Amino acid sequence: MRYQGREVDVEGRVRLVMESALTARDRVGVQDFVLLENYNSEAAFIENLRRRFGEGLIYTYIGSVLVSVNPYKELEIYSKQQMERYRGVSFYEISPHIYALSDTAYRAMRTERKDQCIMISGESGAGKTEASKKILLYYAVTCPINAHMATLGDRLLQSNPVLEAFGNAKTFRNDNSSRFGKYMGVQFDFRGAPVGGHILNYLLEKSRVVHQNHGERNFHIFYQLLDGGDDNLLTTLALQRNPQNYSYLVKGNCPRLSSVSDKNNWKVVMKALSVIGFAEEEVQKLLSIIAGVLHLGNTQFGEGEEGETCITTETHATNVAKLLGVDVSALGEALTHKKLTAKGEEMITPLNFEQAMSARDALAKAVYGRTFTWLVEKINQSVALQEEIYHSGKGCSVIGLLDIYGFEVLQHNSFEQFCINYCNEKLQQLFIELTLRSEQEEYEAEGIAWETVQYFDNKIICDLIEEKHKGIISTLDEECLRPGETCDASFLEKLEDTLGGHPHFVTHKLANGKTRKAMGREEFRLLHYAGEVNYNVNGFLDKNNDLLNRNLKEVMCQSHNQIVSYCFRREEVMDQKRPEMAATQFKNNLMKLMEILGSKEPSYVRCLKPNDAKQPGRFDEVLIRHQVKYLGLMENLRVRRAGFAYRRRFEAFLQRYKPLCPETWPNWHGRLADGVSTLVNHLGYKAEEYKLGRSKIFIRFPKTLFTTEDALQAKKPEIGECKNGFPEWRLITIQSGWRGMKARRRAKRRREAAELIRKFIKGFIYRHEDYCPENEYFLDHVRYSFLKNLRKNLPRSVLDKTWPTPPPSLVEASENLWRMHMRNMVVKYCKRVQPEWRKQMIQKVAASEIFKDQKDSYPQGVGRLFLDSRLEREQINLKVVQTLGSDKVQYGVPVVKYDRRGFKPRPRQLLLTNTFAVLVDKTKIKQRIDYAALRGISVSSLSDGMFVLHMPNEDNKQKGDVVLHCDHVIELVTKLAMMASKVNYVNINPGSITFAVARGKEGIIDFVRGSELKVAKGKRGHLLVIAPQINNI
Ligand SMILES: Nc1ncnc2c1ncn2[C@@H]1O[C@H](COP(=O)(O)OP(=O)(O)OP(=O)(O)O)[C@@H](O)[C@H]1O
Ligand SMILES: [Mg+2]
Repeated sequence: MRYQGREVDVEGRVRLVMESALTARDRVGVQDFVLLENYNSEAAFIENLRRRFGEGLIYTYIGSVLVSVNPYKELEIYSKQQMERYRGVSFYEISPHIYALSDTAYRAMRTERKDQCIMISGESGAGKTEASKKILLYYAVTCPINAHMATLGDRLLQSNPVLEAFGNAKTFRNDNSSRFGKYMGVQFDFRGAPVGGHILNYLLEKSRVVHQNHGERNFHIFYQLLDGGDDNLLTTLALQRNPQNYSYLVKGNCPRLSSVSDKNNWKVVMKALSVIGFAEEEVQKLLSIIAGVLHLGNTQFGEGEEGETCITTETHATNVAKLLGVDVSALGEALTHKKLTAKGEEMITPLNFEQAMSARDALAKAVYGRTFTWLVEKINQSVALQEEIYHSGKGCSVIGLLDIYGFEVLQHNSFEQFCINYCNEKLQQLFIELTLRSEQEEYEAEGIAWETVQYFDNKIICDLIEEKHKGIISTLDEECLRPGETCDASFLEKLEDTLGGHPHFVTHKLANGKTRKAMGREEFRLLHYAGEVNYNVNGFLDKNNDLLNRNLKEVMCQSHNQIVSYCFRREEVMDQKRPEMAATQFKNNLMKLMEILGSKEPSYVRCLKPNDAKQPGRFDEVLIRHQVKYLGLMENLRVRRAGFAYRRRFEAFLQRYKPLCPETWPNWHGRLADGVSTLVNHLGYKAEEYKLGRSKIFIRFPKTLFTTEDALQAKKPEIGECKNGFPEWRLITIQSGWRGMKARRRAKRRREAAELIRKFIKGFIYRHEDYCPENEYFLDHVRYSFLKNLRKNLPRSVLDKTWPTPPPSLVEASENLWRMHMRNMVVKYCKRVQPEWRKQMIQKVAASEIFKDQKDSYPQGVGRLFLDSRLEREQINLKVVQTLGSDKVQYGVPVVKYDRRGFKPRPRQLLLTNTFAVLVDKTKIKQRIDYAALRGISVSSLSDGMFVLHMPNEDNKQKGDVVLHCDHVIELVTKLAMMASKVNYVNINPGSITFAVARGKEGIIDFVRGSELKVAKGKRGHLLVIAPQINNI
């Protein structure tokens, strides 16, 4: 573990704790150009680059843009450990690196689910392709691997040597110069594993097939085949090993390269082709085409007997025909004749020597160019996203890598440079748009006022080139299509006519004296955003036309070589419509590319080349200045520095500088914004020096930051040791261990919560199914919660009929529980009842059996307490008591007796003993009624207190039934019926009671409802009882 020196190694992972370069800035400059004090100074910019380059630090940021200087030597910063070091680490926490940029883009893609693109630009030899390979390798090593696509990473990586063999060449500026533009989109699945790829190629420099400048070579594959292919192969292809024997390989007079081994690369390419999935037969066909092109180059023309142009190198022509799978005579004919269609009629005209040579070269370029496109398509098929992943609906995110030619200014600039520089104008336009947009968005998100930035909008130049009808490309197309004599010079004139006076366009004729001197008569000059470039119009029309004679196309269509016949479709020959011109095609491709890039979150790598000699350690200031200008880096810095030099998230700022303020050291427990505010107040920041956004602090001047940084460095020895002698790094280790543990716990809890929610949702969906693994958790939970809820809400009295509704699976159990609970409550209740109360209840139950719902006064009567007696002991005459002797009075009550005749009311006491009742008139027992003899008891259904005791009628000695009235009739009749065991003998009569008068005669009591109780004689000698209405409700 190492701390003081900048890094802390925790569990094998090395992390830089803070922005290390801030501390080492005097030695290595600033690691982010936005920290340059004098950010408008190009000299300061270059000095910072130079200082860092001298220390072997090739990467520097401009905000989120990575500037890279080609070291021209192998640096030990690309190992697997280095990759690990940058994985998941915040962009600014660690020294600038292409891995940091790659990782940031990857993490942004994963966390924000936003497609990303990394645009790599710079001039030839600046290191674009190397950078793109490093990014790809970083993803291949650090990303998780999709089990189904284990080989995909390999295929993507292996596409590089194949495309480089066929699309790269040694040029004056770069031994491995990409002669095509390349966009590679890598698709990642939802887990972040690469699952597919797609390559788009742009504008291959086909002219290289037939011509190379001095010191340059043709595409690598030709030399690799001759050097690496075994003897058998060469014999099959009728090739000789010496490249000098092929006229397409001798133009640059540079057959071999010291820096690369064609033989080794041949092996690499052959292996790569098989990894990508090329069948042996396909490789054979591919190599036949390459050999065919070489033989085509050696095909020479001469003059025949009749002065016609004819092929003089029969062997080569035969080889070409054999290798390209076409008929030799048809090929010979097509190379020396031209087929024209005029007014629907076909005419064949012979070609002169020059025309035949250019037809041959055109064929070589077309065959090679189309084969290259086929190769890209084939690779795309091999790395394409698999159907099942595409349709899995989980969605893929993309990281695009754009490795495209940088701004190019040669001594002689032609059509190719025009296209390349146009492409760079478009990229610059996109760059400005996206950078400004993202800057503006960040200010908005942080709630900080946007300060307008002055920048050059290059739309005017893009329009100059691409505008319909008026632009250079339109004019070029028109000139190519115009009938009559057209040539490059007439194109230049046309340009002068249409564009003369445009501020970014000038020609020799239109220029003033000084400019005119610096221009040729065949040149036009464009004032690009990056600088002025003169283009020579020679060859513009031909290159734009990119014409291949129709009869040559026809021959190729019939090829037996599947690659050739795939590349030359029959429909193309049948179709009379003119194909799109090269520049328009390029323009349309660029539009599509801009659309692809514009829909993604961009990151930029700006590559610089330190010297033209490809030497390590040499820093050519003039060359660098030129590139800084052409790449618009100063402009870039100005946009990024608009307003504020430095911005950091609150937590990062506080974490670094908290030792500088007693209130924030060692830990700040409040809101982060308050912590930062406390800290900067303590540091004495002035209001104009900084602003607090929503999550970041913005510091206007680097000076402010550096002062703070210096204060921190000064403070370090003091904070390095704690009171108890604990070095800080130990504390940090403990802290980070503790935090890690807390984070792990938190993550575990989150995982469990997510799992629980998932179980719930699944259980809910399957809730109506039988108990099964999908719903067991859910159903158990529902049962458990029902029982828990029931426990809290059990009815507390037998009369409480509420009961929680059970879930379907618990209906039966719920009913049983209810029954058990009720029984339990009843048992408990019964146990609690006192003997006194028990007696009372037995009587009430009997009363209920007799009277419930039958007599109006029942509810009132039963509601009252039944007393043991309604007469006090002293109210009963002693004589009577004595007469009764051992038969104790159990109950006594005052009653009114009505005579059976005349119904005279007489007050009496009714005393009940265990076996009989007596009617007492003060001191005398007037009548004894044996319970055994009692025939029945009648009461009315109304609220009155009348009741009749029916006596036996067979005994004539009896006086008849007894008609009585009692205020406590419910109580009395209940007690009497119980004592006499005559509960079932109580009659309740609704309208009248018939009672026996002595000697077989009968009397009747009529009952009617009235306002108040009245007992009086009624009609026909009946006794009329008017009973008041009782409102029981
Ligand atoms: N990071 C690097 N480390 C070591 N060498 C490098 C690095 N980048 C570039 N180089 C060297 O520079 C050479 C040119 O780089 P590269 O081919 O990537 O340039 P380029 O920008 O793609 O050029 P072109 O536009 O011509 O294709 C490489 O072959 C390699 O030798
Ligand atoms: Mg390249």
